[in-house]
Amino acid sequence: MTTTLAFDVYGTLIDTHGIAAALQPRLGPRAADFSRAWRDKQLEYSFRRGLMRRYETFAVCTRQALDHTCAQFGLPLDPTEREGLMDAYQTLPAFQDAREGLVQAREAGFRLFAFSNGPAEAVGPLLAQAGLRDFFVDVVSVDEVQSFKPDPGVYAHFLRRAGVPARGAWLISSNPFDVIGALSAGLPAAWVRRSPAALFDPWGLEPTLTVESLSGLAARIRP
Ligand code: 2OP
Repeated sequence: MTTTLAFDVYGTLIDTHGIAAALQPRLGPRAADFSRAWRDKQLEYSFRRGLMRRYETFAVCTRQALDHTCAQFGLPLDPTEREGLMDAYQTLPAFQDAREGLVQAREAGFRLFAFSNGPAEAVGPLLAQAGLRDFFVDVVSVDEVQSFKPDPGVYAHFLRRAGVPARGAWLISSNPFDVIGALSAGLPAAWVRRSPAALFDPWGLEPTLTVESLSGLAARIRP
């Protein structure tokens, strides 16, 4: 059976810190710190909502994290500015190596899926504007089971949707919590470690494969 690759979206294909450009006019040199704090809080809210079974979409996590980060940085936003930043989240850029990595994976014969915390209605257009949507058979979202990564249930849901057993699908992600979540659910997982400064959690679970870039990934996995 052809091997399936499940590509994480935010932080793996799409650069969430691309939002710093939209923050620059208001925050100047603090834009990068704001962007990191916003992303961390967004993920924290998704983890907490998953654990508490108080599901709201990832867009709600993103918006509430924005409000929290604005308070933290003393940055009051009027409703138009707030919506402008949320809109900018829908036009985030792809990482430079994303297209080449996907071209190689497609040519090698893998079945490619996008698999994200974001609802398919948001992730499909996000990938399309970044020029990446057409690589994927489908977008699978945690929204379909109303939980978040790394709930084991969302990886099981991915396998059901893709119609493959756990050993037949790899997760590809830059997010260590996602890699560990997939490994715990029985999937092989590749960690995309673009920066040597990126750290993996010392939980005693190692990525099946670590790559520095999406370029060259396909050559390291058997199709
Ligand atoms: C995603 O699921 C984890 O944010 C990441 O797209």
